[in-house]
Amino acid sequence: MSREKIVILDFGAQYNQLIARRVREQNVYCELVPYDTPVAKLRGRKPKGIILTGGPSSVFDQGAPHCDPAVFALGVPVLGICYGTQLMAHLLGGAVAKAKAAEYGHASIRIARGSKLFRGLSGEMPVWMSHGDQVSKLPDGFAVLAKTDTCPVAAMGDTKRHLYGVQFHPEVVHTPWGGDLFANFLHRICGCGRNWTMASFVTEATEAIRQEVGDGRVLCGLSGGVDSSVVATLLHNAIGDRLQCVFVNNGCLREGEAEQVVRVFGDEFNMNLHYADATDEFLAALNGVADPERKRKIIGHKFIDVFAAEARKLGTIHYLAQGTLYPDVIESVSAKGGPSSVIKSHHNVGGLPKDLKFKLIEPLRDLFKDEVRRVGLELGLPSSIVYRQPFPGPGLAVRLVGPVTAERLAILRAADQRVREELDPHQHTLRLWQWFAVLLPVQSVGVMGDARTYEYTVSLRVITSEDGMTADWAKLPHELLGRISNRIINEVKGVNRVLYDISSKPPATIEWE
Ligand code: XMP
Repeated sequence: MSREKIVILDFGAQYNQLIARRVREQNVYCELVPYDTPVAKLRGRKPKGIILTGGPSSVFDQGAPHCDPAVFALGVPVLGICYGTQLMAHLLGGAVAKAKAAEYGHASIRIARGSKLFRGLSGEMPVWMSHGDQVSKLPDGFAVLAKTDTCPVAAMGDTKRHLYGVQFHPEVVHTPWGGDLFANFLHRICGCGRNWTMASFVTEATEAIRQEVGDGRVLCGLSGGVDSSVVATLLHNAIGDRLQCVFVNNGCLREGEAEQVVRVFGDEFNMNLHYADATDEFLAALNGVADPERKRKIIGHKFIDVFAAEARKLGTIHYLAQGTLYPDVIESVSAKGGPSSVIKSHHNVGGLPKDLKFKLIEPLRDLFKDEVRRVGLELGLPSSIVYRQPFPGPGLAVRLVGPVTAERLAILRAADQRVREELDPHQHTLRLWQWFAVLLPVQSVGVMGDARTYEYTVSLRVITSEDGMTADWAKLPHELLGRISNRIINEVKGVNRVLYDISSKPPATIEWE
């Protein structure tokens, strides 16, 4: 597909995906590639501009990552960020030196007048710095575009060759006007249009699916989660009835979930939806199992068995759709294993039996999660699905500490429903990432009326997070906590005590198992 694009050379900084997100927020498509991608390959991608990211190295380090200096002679604009700027200076005949004092955190830059990079911005601006080295001598043709009290080259540029570098981090929230800098680079300097929109993605992706699939059929495992829901809807738009969805109920879903999937996708969107209610089969296999890893294994294996058995009933199908997203396919230089480019495995297909041979179709592999949600809205999916909280594959089974039984599942499901009813309306204002109930294998004494009770304990897990890698417990208003607790204790038979989990991740995890 010949999209107008920016190529980002990844030098291994932890937050490089943020740069890609900022570029896309400007409605410009971009790809993140390893820093040592050969220049011929870069040229072949026909970028409108190149961005060099930050990274943990110093240009002086033995084996520090260098790109081919020919990158600067491709004739397309280049923007360096932090390490990317130092490398640009180093490779083009300037000099880099250790800063007198490493600079981390807020700083204020003074912007020189007249450069396209800072068009519309002037005077003093707050920025986020994080560096030990800095440019000490400009390469020929460059001028200083901004400075701080301690960093004489906070930004530099060669306006003839369209080469620019900033020492600070425009991609982070602590540089609040960073979006303007990206906009200037992308639209004024690289001449990019604002073509990357989710509406244009839907049009392109629909056409690409039709081209690829021809008159073949596609199988899609639908879970009701955001990714599989968007994949299914996109495919359905493209090929209609030649999409066959399979939804497996593993008996560990939340209240109303199976019904919602059948209603939305089967009834409202009119998809070919095959509903396999395997509740009894899963619960028989899980009955009494307490070990979390065994629970996961049983559910994983059973899912493959049920899905494969259903697939065999559905005639010849050529393709299997997967909700792979861009972060799963980026060849990451910062991933474990170092700069040797690791591609994450597509774990979901591995397990299917050998006689089921499918070609994979992954219509979301260019998208970040927030873009997937916007595509979902574009396709008319209800916001209850688009903004659904992440829910683990093994479902309620791993929120049920101790043995799985039908009775304990019913208690947890009822408690969780109260948590969702109370918190769903506040998910955006409280910026919640996940909100759910956990049933503990602890019974304690209580009183109800005149009678003594001895019943289960529920813990509430409500967290805020950017990406699920780290998380903090949500500072819920006390009245809201009180209402949730009252509702669970009064309405859910079998529970007489509710706790609030105030652990952050790390060291705790989000789930209890
Ligand atoms: P933890 O508990 O590791 O969770 O902090 C991080 C995120 O991953 C989800 N999670 C899972 N998702 N299968 C899944 O599909 C699993 O076995 C699983 N375990 C945890 C969890 O809900 C959170 O969003």
